[in-house]
Amino acid sequence: MTVANGLEQVIVAETEISFVDGERGRLVFRGRWAKDLSDTHRFEEVAHLLWYGSLPSGEEKADIAAKWASEREISAGVKAVIDAIPREVGMMSVLRTAVSALETEGFGYPPTLEQAASITMKLPTIVAYCYRRLKGLAPVEPRTDLRHTANYLYMLKGEEASPVHVQALEAYLNLMMEHGMNSSTFAARVIASTRSDLISAVVGAIGALKGPLHGGAPSLVMNMLRDIGSKDRAEAWIRSKLENDGRIMGFGHRVYKTKDPRAEALRLIASRLSDSDPCLELAVHVEETAIRLLEEYKPGKKLYTNVEFYAAAVMNAIDFEEELFTPTFVVTRSVGWCAHILEAAAGRLIYPDSAYVGQLPSE
Ligand code: ACO
Repeated sequence: MTVANGLEQVIVAETEISFVDGERGRLVFRGRWAKDLSDTHRFEEVAHLLWYGSLPSGEEKADIAAKWASEREISAGVKAVIDAIPREVGMMSVLRTAVSALETEGFGYPPTLEQAASITMKLPTIVAYCYRRLKGLAPVEPRTDLRHTANYLYMLKGEEASPVHVQALEAYLNLMMEHGMNSSTFAARVIASTRSDLISAVVGAIGALKGPLHGGAPSLVMNMLRDIGSKDRAEAWIRSKLENDGRIMGFGHRVYKTKDPRAEALRLIASRLSDSDPCLELAVHVEETAIRLLEEYKPGKKLYTNVEFYAAAVMNAIDFEEELFTPTFVVTRSVGWCAHILEAAAGRLIYPDSAYVGQLPSE
């Protein structure tokens, strides 16, 4: 029996949702280039594409905007669950617990598109509620007259955000919405394949995304940039990390053997916000240095910038604190998770095998 370590290159499903072309560095959402959608469409439109297979018509756009916006409120019960958690617990753990508490609110089996829209609309409200509580600020209720992204920023900051910040965040959310059979999506699919409910599958996915090798990387990228501090220290810092067998956060990818196309798109978004941002300048220098040194220390491994590297730069440029980085990833990736949960719930139970290498009892 051969073990596919880390399930690398194992094909576990047929899907129509997205295609990650790792060799050529391309990403397709339902037959369209993800990079073309990110800047030109609203969050709601890209979500509609991933869930229904097509961009909404003019009439559908107004319809879903109103219908989905009416799903934004969270109950007093969910708020009470959040309030009961000690403040020192990390945002991702609070978020995971709060989403669990939604189970009592009509999210039972089987998963549906209505449930998918409902949880995706509630997630920003949960994140904003958790964040403002962490900061000792009064909660801000969602508004139905704002679009999804503008409302998320409004609930976080307590005032309407600038159109430039809304556009940058929207482009980030659209790009990050879906990405093939990544670890959190696979976790969600495994749970959905058991005919469990949508909330359980999303909770499992949040647990997987939280890890530093997956969605937990951007705050570690910020730590790294802060630690490096200035361009002249980058080379020595990275060398020392690699010589001690450390990982450079924001580099390397299971599927991409070239630059992650989302990384370049995010770099452009960050530079549009401020092309003289010292943090971005440092990031660009660290990127060049890290790619060169990774090739020196890990020859032939094809380790390039992944999406998380410039995700940190975009988040920083729109004044998001690090506590919000991974929760904001959840806010958007829930769209992809839900699309996959619906696909997997209609499929066969996922139940792989393992090779037992322990001892056998004597006969
Ligand atoms: N820094 C240094 N070395 C690395 C890095 C890195 N960032 N990434 C991979 N390598 C090396 C490994 O040490 C290993 O070397 P070896 O064969 O000499 O032991 C080799 O490259 C292969 O590494 P694996 O861990 O087998 O690669 P895998 O495909 O499993 O890992 C992963 C992919 C987890 C993303 C990895 O590249 C990594 O840890 N990156 C840093 C964390 C990160 O940025 N995560 C975000 C990913 S994007 C996302 O999930 C949204």
